[in-house]
Amino acid sequence: MNQKLSGKRIIVGISGGIAAYKSVELVRLLRKSGAEVQVLMTPDAHRFVTPLTLGTLSEREVLTEIFPPNQTGSWTKHVHLGLWADLMIVAPATANTLSKLVTGVCDSMLTAVALSARCPMMVCPAMDHDMYEHASTRDNLSTLRERGVAVMDAPEGLLASGLTGKGRLPEPEDIAERAAGLLADHSPTQAGPRVLVTAGPTRESLDPVRYITNRSSGTMGFEIARAAQRMGCRVTLVAGPTALETPEGVTRVDVETAREMHAAVLAHRDADVIVMAAAVADYEAASVSRDKIKKADGDLVLQLSRTPDILRELGARRTDDQVLVGFALETRDAEKGALKKLHGKNVDWIVLNNPTEEGAGFGPGTNKVTLYGRDGRVEPLPVMSKADVALAILGFVEPGVKRPG
Ligand code: CTP
Repeated sequence: MNQKLSGKRIIVGISGGIAAYKSVELVRLLRKSGAEVQVLMTPDAHRFVTPLTLGTLSEREVLTEIFPPNQTGSWTKHVHLGLWADLMIVAPATANTLSKLVTGVCDSMLTAVALSARCPMMVCPAMDHDMYEHASTRDNLSTLRERGVAVMDAPEGLLASGLTGKGRLPEPEDIAERAAGLLADHSPTQAGPRVLVTAGPTRESLDPVRYITNRSSGTMGFEIARAAQRMGCRVTLVAGPTALETPEGVTRVDVETAREMHAAVLAHRDADVIVMAAAVADYEAASVSRDKIKKADGDLVLQLSRTPDILRELGARRTDDQVLVGFALETRDAEKGALKKLHGKNVDWIVLNNPTEEGAGFGPGTNKVTLYGRDGRVEPLPVMSKADVALAILGFVEPGVKRPG
């Protein structure tokens, strides 16, 4: 068991060669070490090992096609997986798959994810000796090396053809060991963009024992903070009252009221990207009673005053280099409301969600959102886990970040 693999997200890409049987053991070893594993198989790999075996061992659905039959609304999966992974291993990499990795052919989920992945990649070629020594394979391997791909040399030994020579797949233990080393070398340097995320509800006191709040759980904002940190960003999370744990490597600032959130955000507004995922209260008590409010015979009328609109203020004071993202929670005329916020608050993206739609809303589960961009883009996303929605949002937003040089 390798501690360095624990908690890591690893894509294992399997192409169609006899050595694919060893990848079954590789997946088992990675899982045993505590890594999350997503298996991608080329169609030919199915001839050697079954998706059922690999799906059972990885505890995730094995993916092969970019456009699987009978599937709608999830064609962006290759992009999400490319952002999700900490490492992609292609083992075995056949001569055919190697050449596709070099030329950018994307005819399966494996080759498409290889193009969109931002994580380090490692390939383990395995084929017959003469194919391995052929000039085209040698050239392809050196091109991949030049591009920063880690190539594990094929050891010498008895091959499936009955010949002896180079072309065997390294032992699964050795591949796992090398993977752990690569992950350690590429652990995020946190020199990426500075990202400020707000999350959760705010809580506005009425008296020493009562307050007004809303149903936000904070999950969406916390997942955005977690995903940004994993992508190498330096993340500050301003959190309203929630029971959620701070994502690893994220700097957390706890606040309670809209005014406290306003102050905390302004103190950290010097960020490259600001994502206002918090459900900030629009109203607070006009005056907070020092003593507990006692009941009387008649009805009680509470006077509420407006809180500062934090996002609007950020939009008014923004620089051109900054990327601002707001959320819109709408239950009626959703698109109209989202566009009004996009332009009215002068932001780059509005993430619209309608909590009454199936799969959307508060709580830890899934979400269904549509992104509206300042440039007119409209990006509807299917129902996904909040972790995947977070990755998708950052995938759209992060390319807009201007980096020095
Ligand atoms: N927001 C904010 N400050 C507030 C209220 C909201 O920064 N006082 C931010 C939220 O974090 C969110 C966006 O503004 O990113 C939209 O919030 P929402 O409550 O949906 O819209 P409102 O502007 O409050 O408008 P309405 O309540 O009329 O829908």
